[in-house]
Amino acid sequence: MKLLELIEKRLLEELTPEVRLVLETGRYIVESGGKRLRPLLTLLSCGLCGGNPEEALPLAVGVEYVHVASLLHDDVVDGAEERRGRKSANLVFGNGVAVLTGDYMYAKALHLFTEYGNAEMIRLLSWAVMQMAQGQVLELSKVGEIITEEEYFKIIDGKTAVLFAAAAGVGAMRAGSSRWAELKEAGLKIGRAFQLVDDALDYEGDPRRLGKPVGNDLKEGKCTYPLLAVLNRLDEEEVKQTLMGRRDPEELRKKVLELGGTRLAKEKAREELEEARKILSGFPDSAYREELLKLIDFVVERTK
Ligand code: IPE
Ligand code: IPE
Ligand code: MG
Ligand code: MG
Ligand code: MG
Repeated sequence: MKLLELIEKRLLEELTPEVRLVLETGRYIVESGGKRLRPLLTLLSCGLCGGNPEEALPLAVGVEYVHVASLLHDDVVDGAEERRGRKSANLVFGNGVAVLTGDYMYAKALHLFTEYGNAEMIRLLSWAVMQMAQGQVLELSKVGEIITEEEYFKIIDGKTAVLFAAAAGVGAMRAGSSRWAELKEAGLKIGRAFQLVDDALDYEGDPRRLGKPVGNDLKEGKCTYPLLAVLNRLDEEEVKQTLMGRRDPEELRKKVLELGGTRLAKEKAREELEEARKILSGFPDSAYREELLKLIDFVVERTK
């Protein structure tokens, strides 16, 4: 069976809460799809390091549960109404149920790690979750403000890149590889690129393909890379007013696009991906390495 099919199957099998509403909410978000990039990264890293990817399957499922939990919470925090092409769980089940199902998914991930992993893996995953919460709070604390590039990268490393880092690192650990830190580093760079592209797509993507609305970051007062990249060619006062919700975000969105903000964000993403590629080139050639390189290409070429 293909790795993605194995992931899909196990994702549903492991989801077994007793309370019906938790099951319903969990299934609602898990079954609505998703690209499954993080669990794939876990399996491919395991294979790259000479392990049997199938042995990493429950850990990969744990990684995706952490991701799903973060989406449930993110949509509450962002007040989002659409996710994975459906109404968001907070809209369907309410904020309370969405947050608590997210808690369940986080704990279920840890549970899987205690059963199928080891302390070192739990340490890496819990580090990622701690960073994610802090990245999200850091972002919240900067809403309505122009931030520095350094602050931007601190935010995206926290909210997004560290989970890619943990996903890749854990797969290598499962293979018993002493080189897991290299995979963790490659994962971090892939995750950074992933969020740079997510932020570009928020400016120029097709909402139907993405399964979530676009233009929301500016509307919510978030200063992301496409804007930062062209800031010096914009009127700072106008940008501030827009981020504070006092000007039409659509106007600024168009200007950022005209000035090439999203192109610059993708260029930056490509630089990160190039570094990830370099790390992978230090590993023996294999089908897993090929798949990882394909995954890397997808991160910047994707339209969903
Ligand atoms: C969305 O992640 C959240 C971000 C970190 C930008 P994905 O785009 O991987 O979401 P799914 O899993 O495919 O829905
Ligand atoms: C993603 O940030 C962060 C996490 C889900 C942890 P976004 O807020 O940009 O994600 P989307 O765009 O809603 O998927
Ligand atoms: Mg969001
Ligand atoms: Mg968010
Ligand atoms: Mg986004």
